[in-house]
Amino acid sequence: MTLRIESVRALEILDSRGQPTIRMYVVLDNGIVGTASVPSGASTGKREALELRDGDAGRYGGKGVLKAAGHVDTIIGPAIRGMDPRDQSKIDRLMIDLDGSPDKMYLGANAILGVSQAVARAAARASGMPLYAYLGGVGANRLPRPMINILNGGSHSDSTLDFQEFMIVPVGADSFGEALRYGVETFAALKRILRARGYPTNVGDEGGFAVPLDDNEEGCAVIVEAISAAGYEPGVDIALALDPAASAFCEDGAYHLTRSDQGITDSTALVALFEEWVGKYPIISIEDGLAEDDWRGFHDLTARLGDKIQIVGDDILVTNPGLIARAIKEKTCNAALIKPNQIGSVSEAIEAIQLCRKAGWAFIVSHRSGDTEDDFIADFAVAMGGGQIKTGSVCRSERIAKYNRLLEIEHELDGGTGFGP
Ligand code: PGA
Ligand code: ZN
Repeated sequence: MTLRIESVRALEILDSRGQPTIRMYVVLDNGIVGTASVPSGASTGKREALELRDGDAGRYGGKGVLKAAGHVDTIIGPAIRGMDPRDQSKIDRLMIDLDGSPDKMYLGANAILGVSQAVARAAARASGMPLYAYLGGVGANRLPRPMINILNGGSHSDSTLDFQEFMIVPVGADSFGEALRYGVETFAALKRILRARGYPTNVGDEGGFAVPLDDNEEGCAVIVEAISAAGYEPGVDIALALDPAASAFCEDGAYHLTRSDQGITDSTALVALFEEWVGKYPIISIEDGLAEDDWRGFHDLTARLGDKIQIVGDDILVTNPGLIARAIKEKTCNAALIKPNQIGSVSEAIEAIQLCRKAGWAFIVSHRSGDTEDDFIADFAVAMGGGQIKTGSVCRSERIAKYNRLLEIEHELDGGTGFGP
């Protein structure tokens, strides 16, 4: 079967924060269309591939993406026209070379990733396969374990919490659907508890409650309460995971916590705090516990806790195979967050996961705090063999879209071969 890309179009649309982002349409010569919409972070790592914004203060406060869309119409589209959409790595490589910069700053990582994902969708459709099977082959039948972010702090909400994400991980569930149900019931129990204490139950960017708690530790305590109130056993049925996103409260190498942990300013004290918490709460994963430049702090945290729990690099690694290779060598963490838009193409995100696998690291496929109804990462996680997925709380449609797609895939695979890392 011959397949050719006929045209590529880009459209400026909106993300879940009401900010412009980009949607691609890759049209094949047989009329099949693949689409993809690109997400956008708020607590971004400084070494991420560049998301190209117009900078025209007269439109969307400078955040328009018409330049990136223009690059798709005039540069990327004509360059990949006539190519076979199944040549994913060749197409990705061509776009990377056309851009020519290390961080995709000329064409924009948003432009390149959108086309990369839409090409994969078009090829899957044309091959008559679901996206997860097309990208992952016949062995792609394992569902990811969800990390469900039910309290939002940091730069994702106006709550008082310095730490960005307090997640629950249904470790005792035996299927993705059951894990999701555990999460929904705990989220509902948490809402009842917060309400009873007179707290507002409005939600932040990723759908977790944005609550003015007295200190960060109370976030862990109230979640443990909610797990029990929902009828589950903390640590057995449902564990905790944290993403402090520490770069956001680190300045010139010093940490600045605003709640009761104000005395903690260096990484040694922060690592000691995490150690204390891991002893007190059923925490199984800490992501970005230290800031993105604090490689030494990360290494210390991994040395202290890495044999007990998952130490995840997000801002410090930015899905970059080069940085992941360094972190593997230096024992900086033992798991990587995988955000396709941090690196800017499907092929490079796969390369990052392959590195993790080879090193015996875990990986977590992740959304962004500004996201859309696009559910690419759900299929992508299954294609990559399950692992874990981080796609927010169990409310807000841009989060639920991914969960619903995973329910659909689990049903289609008749349960698959289980789930999790
Ligand atoms: P971001 O947050 O999308 O705002 O970067 C997600 C995360 O830090 O994991
Ligand atoms: Zn993170």
